[in-house]
Amino acid sequence: DRTEGVDENSKQDQLDEVRENSEGEELTTDHGVKVSDTDNSLKAGERGPTIMEDFHFREKMTQFDHESIPERVVHARGTGVHGYFQPYEDPDLGDEYDDIEELTKAKVLTDPDQKTPVFTRFSTVVGSRGSADTVRDVRGFATKFYTEEGNWDLVGNNIPVFFIQDAMEFPDLVHSIKPDPDDGTPQASAAHDTFWDFASLKPEITHMIMWVLSGRALPRAYRMMQGFGVHTFRLVNEEGESVFVKFHWAPEYDTSQLVWDETQKIAGKNPDFNRQDLYDVIEAGYEPEFELGVQIFDEEDAEEFDFDVLDPTKIVPESEVPVRPIGKMTLNETPDNFFAEVEQVAFHPGNVVPGIDFSNDPLLQGRLFSYQDTQLNRFGSANWDEIPINRPIAERHNNQRAGFMRQEINEGKASYKPNSIGDDDPQEAPEEEGGYEHYAEKIDGKKIRNRSESFQNHFDQARLFWNSMTEPEKQNIIDAAHFELGKVDRVEIRERMVYDLFNNVDHEFAKRVAEGIGVEPPEEPGDQMPTHDREDSRLSIEERR
Ligand code: HEM
Repeated sequence: DRTEGVDENSKQDQLDEVRENSEGEELTTDHGVKVSDTDNSLKAGERGPTIMEDFHFREKMTQFDHESIPERVVHARGTGVHGYFQPYEDPDLGDEYDDIEELTKAKVLTDPDQKTPVFTRFSTVVGSRGSADTVRDVRGFATKFYTEEGNWDLVGNNIPVFFIQDAMEFPDLVHSIKPDPDDGTPQASAAHDTFWDFASLKPEITHMIMWVLSGRALPRAYRMMQGFGVHTFRLVNEEGESVFVKFHWAPEYDTSQLVWDETQKIAGKNPDFNRQDLYDVIEAGYEPEFELGVQIFDEEDAEEFDFDVLDPTKIVPESEVPVRPIGKMTLNETPDNFFAEVEQVAFHPGNVVPGIDFSNDPLLQGRLFSYQDTQLNRFGSANWDEIPINRPIAERHNNQRAGFMRQEINEGKASYKPNSIGDDDPQEAPEEEGGYEHYAEKIDGKKIRNRSESFQNHFDQARLFWNSMTEPEKQNIIDAAHFELGKVDRVEIRERMVYDLFNNVDHEFAKRVAEGIGVEPPEEPGDQMPTHDREDSRLSIEERR
C-alpha cells in the first residue's frame, strides 16, 4: 500500500496542510512583510503621482490583474463538494458472480472497510462560468476518487446517452450549441438556429434530444439527479479477465425536476439556485448520498444486443441487464475556497486505477486525449496535478522535476530510467509489480473510419424512451420542443426536426410537435419533408414573435 490506510479524512488531512485562515490576522504582502497601509498608494506629495517603488501597490494590483484563468471550454458553470465513497459488503451481483473481486481488482470498489475520499463537481455544459443554473441542459456529474492506488475520475453526466458517436464530432457539436460566433447569443440555451440546424442534420442525436427535451434537463437539485458514466467501461480482475460495465449513480433523494416555467423564473431571481442548494443542505448538516451501481455484461452478452455497446447513443436496457448497487458516496463537506477547489479541480476520464479500464467507444477514446490537452490551456502549463485539489493521496514517484510552478522538491541526482546512481534497481520493471496494465484486448483490424452497422440505428431507443413516458411527461417533451424549435427562425430546420428525426421516432409525437411550430404535420410515418426555397425560409422577427 502506498498510503497508511485510506479513510474519508485522508484528503482533508492533506488539504489541511495548505488551508489557512487569515481572518483577523495582520495584513502582510505576499512575501510576508507586514503592511502599514493598504488604501493609500505611495505618492510624491499629497497631490503627486504614484511612485513605482510602492511594492505593496504593485503586488496587490498585479495579483488582482491575474486573478482569472480561462473557464472550462464546456462545463464552465458548476460547483463541487467533498465526501467519501464506501463499497458495500458482499453486494448482490446476480447469479453469475459471487464476489466483486471476480470482476475487479480495484480496491476502491472492493474493500468495504475502506472509505475513499472524493470530490464531486456538478455542472451545466453550455453556459459560461457566470450563467444561470436552471437552464435546459445536460448536467455534468464528475467524481474524483482519491484512492490508495491513485486518482480515479468518473467523469459522467446526468443523462445516460450522448449526442454523438465519435469524438471527432465534438468540436462541431459544441460550436453549434455555444453562443453564435457573430453576435455571441444566446448565452446558455439551445433555443437557436445553429444547434437545431446541427441536430436536424445528425440523426444519431435523436435519442439524446428526447432526454434533453424531457425534465431530465431541468433538475430540481444536484442531489436529486442520477449520474451515468455513459460509455461502456471495463473492469479487470487479478487474473487479467475483464467484463464490461456501465456505471450508474442513483440519488438517495428521488430524481426530481423543475417545470419549465419555474426554471425561467428562478434563473432570473436566483441564478445560483442549484449551487446554493447543495452548499446550504451540507452546511445545514444533511449529507447527500448517491449509490454507485454497475450493469455487468461480457463480450458474449454484448454480441447478443441489437446495438453496439461501443455506441454512446445507446443505453443497455435495465430490463436486460439490471443495475447492481456496489457502494455509496456521501457528500459532506463544502469547499473553503471556491477557486482553489472547484475552479482548479481537473477531471480526466483517462485517470483510472488498476482494475478499471476503457472500452473502444470512439467517443471515450477521443475524450482520453481532450481533457489533458484542454487543461494545459486552462492552467497555462503542466503541473496542475500538484495543485492540492488534484494531488493524489497515493504517493507519487517519477522523474518529473520541472515546468511552471513546480511545487514538489525532489531530492537526488537521477531523474531518468534506467539508472544505476539513484537508489532504484536499474532492472526494475514496474508493470510486473502491480503497476497498471492495460487490458490485453486482441485487436486485429484494418485502419478505417467506418462505424459498425448498428451505429446507424438512430431511432429504436429514442422510441423506447418516448414510449416509456407517461402522458404528462410526453406533453412536457412536446411543450419543450414547441418552445425550443419555436425560436428557430429557419423553417427548413424545424421541418427537418419533424420529418427527418421525430417522425421516425413516433408519428403522433411528430404531428404534435409540428402543430405547435408552424410546420405542416406529416401525414404518415416516413413522409418526405416539404421542399422550400431557401431564400424564403427565414421568418421575419415579427413572424417569430
Ligand atoms: C468537461 C471534452 C464528452 C462529461 C469537459 C472539458 C472538455 C471536455 C474539454 C473541459 C475540461 C476542463 O477544462 O477541465 C469532451 C469531449 C467529449 C466529451 C471532447 C467527447 C468527445 C463528454 C461526455 C461526458 C462528459 C460523454 C459524460 C459522460 C464532462 C464533464 C465535464 C467535462 C462532467 C466537467 C468536469 C468538471 O466538472 O470539471 N469535457 N467531453 N464529456 N466533460 Fe466532457
